[in-house]
Amino acid sequence: MATLPMSDLIETAKRVRENAYAPYSGYRVGAAILDSSGQIWSGCNVENVSYGLCVCAERTALCKMVSEGQQELIAVAVVTKDGGTPCGMCLQSLLEFTKDPTRVDVITVSEQSNQVHYKLSDLIPHGFQTGDLKRT
Ligand code: THU
Repeated sequence: MATLPMSDLIETAKRVRENAYAPYSGYRVGAAILDSSGQIWSGCNVENVSYGLCVCAERTALCKMVSEGQQELIAVAVVTKDGGTPCGMCLQSLLEFTKDPTRVDVITVSEQSNQVHYKLSDLIPHGFQTGDLKRT
């Protein structure tokens, strides 16, 4: 985060939240990911009348990052009404693209701009990782 203020990441997440498509839950989410090359990838939640097809904001941003050729993230900001933390599926998805989850920042932000700073490893301390596959 040395060359990029955390506020850029948070502002990007706030801005993309305006595009959230959440007519069913009404819970609008904006996420912004900082990758290891210094680029920021934004994403919002995209719901569907077939509820199981809903895509979370974090995974929207992550798919944008990976599809454009970046495979390592170093920080994520998530903006919601109440400052909620990413769901388990998103945490596992984020974990896939980290080298050291103890050094990856996850910042949750509420509409009132209350911030909570976590490390990814705090939120998903025992996530499934490639080493687990090799044990079988
Ligand atoms: N949601 C996210 O975008 N990210 C999360 O980590 C948790 C939940 C979305 C999915 C759905 O559109 C809405 O929030 C309510 O669950």
